[in-house]
Amino acid sequence: RFIPSKFGLDPTRVQVFVLEDGYNFYAPKVEIRRLVEAEGIPYTFISCNFFVRILLPSLAQPSLDAPPRDKVTIFFYGNIKVHDPCTLNKVLYLRPPRNVCSLNEMVEMWDIKIGKKLETLHVFEGELLQKIKGTSFPANFEMVFIYSAFIKGDHTYFDIESSFGVNGTQLYPHLKYTTVSEFLDTLV
Ligand SMILES: *[C@@H]1O[C@H](CO)[C@@H](O)[C@H](O)[C@H]1NC(C)=O
Repeated sequence: RFIPSKFGLDPTRVQVFVLEDGYNFYAPKVEIRRLVEAEGIPYTFISCNFFVRILLPSLAQPSLDAPPRDKVTIFFYGNIKVHDPCTLNKVLYLRPPRNVCSLNEMVEMWDIKIGKKLETLHVFEGELLQKIKGTSFPANFEMVFIYSAFIKGDHTYFDIESSFGVNGTQLYPHLKYTTVSEFLDTLV
């Protein structure tokens, strides 16, 4: 079975995003996915969405290494065993309910943990797109992920249907996962 190691969000669900120079970060991933399907290669694609180490250590603030202590920018408003016949030729989506959070919810958790309300400034869609286009690849990666997740909602806008996917939380209810809140505790 082909279980590629590059996890993340489901590239076929990204709501069209092409940089000005025509580069589409997700297109090569979609192409490989379609080839695997067309060749009849047994697969499980894992869509774990964000790893905690991606974006969460900075509360989704590009170029910071730790969560901010004064100001925060708001963009727009496991190890699973996969020798499992249920996951054959499916996308396994990991969206544990307590870790499906908006940026506002994450900032609010952080405010409570550090006992201080961060000053917020907003960056809206047009401005973020300008920033992404004005930054060269791959330095704009984090902002591409932020755009996809926090503005377009690509991780969560669709339901998991049995024709194409399985819900990891339902399939492996015994697995204990680290919640966003528990992870933020390690950064206080
Ligand atoms: C996945 O399953 C869990 C547990 O049954 C449920 O709470 C959650 O809403 C499901 N997620 C989706 C996207 O269907």
